[in-house]
Amino acid sequence: MGPDPRPAPGDQTSTVGDGSLADVVLVSNRGPLAFRLDAGRPAAMASGGGLAGSLFPLVEGTGATWVATSMSEADRLAAAQGLMAADGLRIELVEPEPDVYNLAYNVVSNATLWFCHHHLFDSARRPRTDRRWMEAWDAYRDVNRLMAERVAEVAPVGGRVLVQDYHLALVAPALSELRPDLATVHFTHTPFADPSVLRMLATSVGDELLAAMARFEHCGFHSERWASAFRAGLASAAIDGPGATTFVSPLSIDAGRLQASASEPAVSEALARIEESVGSSDRQVIVRVDRMELSKNLLRGFWAFEELLEQVPAHRERVVFVALAYPTRQGLPEYLAYQDEVETTVARINERWGTPGWTPVVLEVEDDYPRSLAALTRYDVLLVNPVRDGLNLVAMEGPVINTHDGVLALSREAGAFDQLGIGAFEVNPFDVTGTATVLARALALDPVERATRAGALRSKVLARRPSDWLDDQLAAARPTTVIG
Ligand code: F6P
Repeated sequence: MGPDPRPAPGDQTSTVGDGSLADVVLVSNRGPLAFRLDAGRPAAMASGGGLAGSLFPLVEGTGATWVATSMSEADRLAAAQGLMAADGLRIELVEPEPDVYNLAYNVVSNATLWFCHHHLFDSARRPRTDRRWMEAWDAYRDVNRLMAERVAEVAPVGGRVLVQDYHLALVAPALSELRPDLATVHFTHTPFADPSVLRMLATSVGDELLAAMARFEHCGFHSERWASAFRAGLASAAIDGPGATTFVSPLSIDAGRLQASASEPAVSEALARIEESVGSSDRQVIVRVDRMELSKNLLRGFWAFEELLEQVPAHRERVVFVALAYPTRQGLPEYLAYQDEVETTVARINERWGTPGWTPVVLEVEDDYPRSLAALTRYDVLLVNPVRDGLNLVAMEGPVINTHDGVLALSREAGAFDQLGIGAFEVNPFDVTGTATVLARALALDPVERATRAGALRSKVLARRPSDWLDDQLAAARPTTVIG
């Protein structure tokens, strides 16, 4: 889910929020503010995703500059009307031609690089690197170049530039040519593809991508697994460069801010509605909170739940699976087809197993932050089973606000498993029967062990703050610093 960037009471955890980042330029595709059109006028809404939501509270008020793309007509209008503004943060919006941006964002970033790094290609059909796709790659290069040019215009002499994510892998070559005085870091929020999967891209494209990333002085990742996949890619393509130096720094959550948000009246109201759909307070509740995203592995979660109902009759009418999925990337046919399959699967399970007083799976496909928080306070088991995930913030948010000593069933393929594997039940996300067994064990866990595990998870999450992650990038952006 990631934090909601709307201001919350008690938000003050950043150690860098003291106006001292005037030399820093953040660069990301999605910026800190987002707009939608309301009766033809731009209206502010929460900017989506973990990256923007985590970074915004850390850098507001610091004097930093944030260069982002305008992702919609509403963003463009808002910028023209001077609404793209935040206190103590200079927001610079780059406005590529909409057609060029669509190719770069949808065809390359979302439908190719996202699939590549998450190992999601359906290799009988995708990737399809043809002339049309190569035009999209040109557009991706153009957008990266535009971003580099804007950074070159606005960055102070000797400034530190923190470029975020797979949308902007090619920024360094242009930037170092235009502004060799800048210190540049790239941070990847997704996994990084293993070399065998990276080889599914056209060879020239894979090599260009790796060579461009190697031009950053340091490349950061949430997990050592992704850092080592990147280094293996560089080695297999025989690419050398300063970016061969990697660092690992997992993002964390702002626990105080999250707890404050979870105690808002809207969350209690949402909880009452969830309890109503669960039907009885003696029932156990499995929760998941995700984007409606292929990598999140919703289908296997539902298949596992069905297997649980088949194998353990005692759970029938005693357990409800509350699945909250935020709509995402609805312009991509793969996502629409996936959502359709998820909804059909849930309808079939409810049809087969439901009784007049019990709906086995409550699926809501809607962006409703208070309801997501409410579900996280309530779960007995939180299922986080992505097939591959850069980190996963939901796995961190749940243990901090849950009030039931709930059990975390966590995919070993999520970056967050590095830290939370100790208190969580390990899930092999591809193994449906194995996932059903984990759910059964988690539901049956005795209260003492539940409390011990929940406490261990909370301590692990609380040991790190989002500002630690930003501080690591800032340290990496000092050219003299040696990072391991
Ligand atoms: O997981 C990395 C990330 O950048 C998240 O911040 C975000 O959820 C996603 O990838 C990008 O999503 P979008 O395309 O909606 O910005």
